[in-house]
Formats: sequence, structure tokens, C-alpha cells
Amino acid sequence: MTLSRILTQQEYETAYAASVKDPEAFWAAQAETFTWKKKWDKVLQWNFDGPEVKWFLGGKLNITENCLDRHLATRGEKTAILWEPNDPNEAAQRLSYRELHDRVCRYANVLKRNGVKKGDRVCIYMPMIPELVVAVLGCARIGAIHSVVFAGFSAQSIADRIQDANAEFVLTSDGMMRGAKKGAVKSVVDEALATCPDVKRVIVTKRTGDPVAMKDGRDVWLHEELKHVDANCPAEVMDAEDPLFILYTSGSTGKPKGVVHTCGGYMVYTDYTFRNVFQYEEKDVFWCTADVGWVTGHSYIIYGPLLAGATSLVFEGIPTYPDAGRFWQVIDKHQVHIFYTAPTAIRSLMAQGLGFVEPHSLSSLRVIGSVGEPINEEAWHWYKDHIGKGHCALVDTWWQTETGGIMISSLAGVTDEKPSHAAWPLPGVQPVLLTADGKEIAENEQEGLLAIRFPWPSIIRTTYGDHERCRQTYFSSYKGYYFTGDGARRDADGRYRIIGRVDDVINVSGHRFGTAEIENAINESEFVVESAVVGYPHDIKGQGIYAYVIAERRIDDVEQARAAILATVTKVIGPIAKPDKIQFVTGLPKTRSGKIMRRILRKVAEGEMSNLGDTTTLLDPAVVEEIKAGRL
Ligand code: WT7
Repeated sequence: MTLSRILTQQEYETAYAASVKDPEAFWAAQAETFTWKKKWDKVLQWNFDGPEVKWFLGGKLNITENCLDRHLATRGEKTAILWEPNDPNEAAQRLSYRELHDRVCRYANVLKRNGVKKGDRVCIYMPMIPELVVAVLGCARIGAIHSVVFAGFSAQSIADRIQDANAEFVLTSDGMMRGAKKGAVKSVVDEALATCPDVKRVIVTKRTGDPVAMKDGRDVWLHEELKHVDANCPAEVMDAEDPLFILYTSGSTGKPKGVVHTCGGYMVYTDYTFRNVFQYEEKDVFWCTADVGWVTGHSYIIYGPLLAGATSLVFEGIPTYPDAGRFWQVIDKHQVHIFYTAPTAIRSLMAQGLGFVEPHSLSSLRVIGSVGEPINEEAWHWYKDHIGKGHCALVDTWWQTETGGIMISSLAGVTDEKPSHAAWPLPGVQPVLLTADGKEIAENEQEGLLAIRFPWPSIIRTTYGDHERCRQTYFSSYKGYYFTGDGARRDADGRYRIIGRVDDVINVSGHRFGTAEIENAINESEFVVESAVVGYPHDIKGQGIYAYVIAERRIDDVEQARAAILATVTKVIGPIAKPDKIQFVTGLPKTRSGKIMRRILRKVAEGEMSNLGDTTTLLDPAVVEEIKAGRL
């Protein structure tokens, strides 16, 4: 059975109404389209207090059978993965569904040979090469839980994630290509593993050919291992609610937490949203520019497109190499129909001028998408006019690591679009706006806290190893709701516009960090006593990182001290978390109870020097004057 896509505004409204009236029937109909080893007994069981959410209870499946085996009869020779390397002079690679199936099965057999079993956690730290996709699916094939760590994170971040998940296996590469440079990969893993004695095996894919250290008894080369396996690997039978993967993401407190998604619901939801939001058609080449290290890459480079039998482009490089026209050159080269990227990329390429766009025709494009942060109107119009040439549908897709798939977005060319508005909830998604004290706001043209009042199939199930943290973070602020952490506004017609985070999470170039997480990193610099981090509007990055730092002694060489802090943050988290501005201060605005008044710090960072609000409760109001005077 194949379900048709929603094709008109009327069909959207009908589907939406049906999904609210009878969610179980709605999602059961979607789920019917897949290959199940055993059909579910019950569609949904849930409460948001536990929380406990289960979809397709008793159902048995393997997601890789649905991504691969299921397509072999009809799409065996169709390209599944179209890989464009970093260097435009290196040949692109095409893996057909048959070849990908073969490679995944062989990789899975390598995993088995090395002791990986169903339920084991496997950390993947790899650049954007075909083997990354193969490794992810290889884990899923045998029921191992993948935990992909973005290959820009530091050794310490890898170690934290390996330890939190008790991962005993790491899949990596020798090195990586990034623009004009090469990057270290295996040596970063080696450094991480110095504090992870439980890791039993590291499987290394050759990419750059650079020499690496191989630890005897622990490290093996993939190409050597592959000599010992064949391509026969039956898919492990998984329960619909068995974990498929863990993906770490930052929150307002503590260390990043491992968001857990499960096999059945995630499969149904990523497939449904992929086909409907992008209005995917069989002939389409789909390109999502995210890294597989983020949820966008999981859901819309790997799982969503492969479930739909699409051709998914995997790009190893960066938007500015060899020049700022690379995205547009790749679109023409591979005749991409659907292009999905982040506002930060759009803004940075917009700043490079149309000279990099004009040499390319971009005539293959039909749909363009945006994800990761609010897209400002200027960037929206530039994207629509100069990349979409005015005629492409533009979808602004709001979602989160925790939601697994796109939640609010127009459907390309089907429901209307409005600049800077993610617009409509997808069928099955029931958003509400809440007041600060948790009352639903019924009227339109109001702003409130964005929450969801009913489960969808790919809702977060738990935070790995700490269910209470999941409850606390998402289900305790407003009883009976999943709380997103975002603020939003509904326009007169009910379209949602996402305003941004209302918690201590900042979004820098579409990457999510907790302010506390960055503060903790800064505080590891030996001369730092205390710090406070806030976000501020940044033309390219969306938000920049502004750090106020108290040093333990007078700083003579400010630039040197800043450099030392940047080096520490790079070491603790990774270069993507480096503050844009570091202001040294002698004190922070604290209340008598010792709480930092971040509101004041935020306003100063934003350049709003008057209207700081009530400062009378401050322990020492004089620090505010110092902070204002020293603003960068
Ligand atoms: C946060 C989630 C899953 C997408 C990649 C980021 C912000 C995401 C939009 C959008 C405005 C957006 C929100 C959200 N966000 N998409 N279209 N418009 N804001 O996933 O790292 O889990 O971050 O990104 O603030 O809460 P993430």
C-alpha cells in the first residue's frame, strides 16, 4: 500500500482534522505502508506525566529493511546516496540501493565480527563520507544503538558522550577533508579514549591516507575487516519501541543529554514528513546540507529520504570551498530538485554577493527549505528570489532534536508561505501557545510559549540513562504538555512564527548550546574566576556568544587572555562554541541571593544601554555601569 501525498490546501485541512480527531487511525494508516515483521497490537499508549509514550506497541521491524531491502525490487539500480566530495576535482560517487544494501550488510557483519550486539551503544565520529551513512545503517541493521558525535566536537566532548552512553565501540576515520585543509579525526578519538577505558574496539575507515596510530588489540582498519565478511546479513528483529539512536543535545542546564529515539515511530514520522513537506517525487535529487552529526542529517539525509526511496546527496565539503559558489555549482552539477539548508548559510552566502550565484542556472530546483533557526525576512527574500528564482516553493521547517522530525512548516507549494513564518503544524502535530502560568492562549495575533499537547510518533522517549531528566526538562514546566523551550507568535490566520528560545539555550549558526555549558568551559581556563554567557543578535550566525569574564588577577595582555579562553573552549567543547566577544569585568550583576541577572547582561550585549529595568535588587548596582562602559 502506498499513501498519496497531500496535494492541496483542502487535502491538508482534511488530513489535519482527521489527525486530530483520530490520531491512532491516522498514524496507523501511515504505518501500514511499511514492511513490518509483525504488525503492532496497539497504536498508542501515552501519558506526559511519566512521561511514557509508546507507538505501534508489539510491532516488530527493522528500519534498514524499510530503507533498503524494500526498495531492491523496484529501485535496486536507482542512486540512493550521491556523494559529492570536498574537492570538486575528485569524482562524485553514486551508490545504488543495491550497492548501499550490500555495503550496509558487509559493514554490519564487520560490527558483529568485532563483538557488537543488539542494544550495544556505538559512538560514530566520522566526516561526511559514504561510510558514515553505511556505519549508521550498519548499526541499525543489527540493532546496535548509534550515537553520532559531530566531527567538529572536541576529544573531551566525545569522551563525555561515550561515557554517558557506556559505548564500548567507536567508528571513525583516519582524517577528514575540509575546504583547503585536512582535519584530524582518529587522533581526536585517541585523545578521547585516554579517559574511556571501556572502549573495546575502534573501527577506522581510510579517507585521507594520513598516518595514524593504531592501538594493538583495540583498533582495526575497516578495509582489512571487510576481507573477512560477506554481504549476507539478515536484519535484526526490533521492537517498535527499541531504541534506534541516541543523539546528544544541549539544554539550559548541565551537560548535553542523550535524546533517545525509537525504531517504529521515528520511521513512520521521518518518512511522512519528508514526503509531504518537500513534496518529494520519485525522480527528485534531494540535498540536505546539514551534517549527519545533527538530527537534521539523521532524519533528512539518511532515514527520511532512504525510507522514501529517494536519491540523497551527501556533501563532504563546506559552502565556501573552493569559493562561495560551491552550493550553487553542486546544485547544477547534480541537477538537485530539493535543497534544504540553514539560515546561517544563506546569510553568509548572501553577504558574498550575487557574483557567486549568477554563473549558475539553478534551474533544476523546485523546492528550497530552511531549518535550524528563525529565518529573517531579508534572508527569506534573498533565498526565494535569487536561489528559488521566485518560482520555487520555500519551506521554513521548525523542529528540534527532541521532535525527531519536522513539526511546523508549510507543505511545499501546497499550503501558503509567509516570510519568517514556519506557518502550519503538520498533520498529527497539536501545538499550543501558553501563558507564563501555563494557560492556553486561544486567540490569534498573540505571543506565547510553544508547547505540544499530544504525542506524535517521533517524540523523544527518554534522555539516555536519566529518565527523570527527560521529565524535568520537557514535561514538568507545564503539566500535560511537551514544552519546546521556544517562544512563538500566531498570526491572524493561525500561522506560527517562531521567535526563539525562552530558556538559557542559544542558537549559534544553527548549533545549540547551553549558556551554562559554555560558562563551564570558560571557567576551566586557569585564570578565570567566574563567567556569564548570553546570546546577542549576530548578522550571520543568528546569535553570537557574548561572554563576561571575571579574571582572578589584573589582565595585562587582554588579547592573550582572550586567546587562552578561546583555546580552552575549543578544547572542552569544540571551535563552534568559541565566544564572539569576551569582556573582562570585575563583577557580575547579582541579586542579594547571588543569582546573576542575565536580563541585564543580555540587554547590554544587545546594545540596549538604557531601559535595563529594575536594578534596585542588585547587590552592587555599580557593576552595571562598569559593564556598560566596557561593552564590546
Ligand atoms: C531549536 C532546536 C531540528 C532542526 C535543527 C536544530 C530552533 C529550529 C527553526 C525554525 C525558528 C528554529 C528552535 C528549536 N529552530 N528550526 N525553522 N525557525 N527556529 O535542532 O539543535 O535541536 O535546535 O532550533 O529554537 O528549539 P536543535
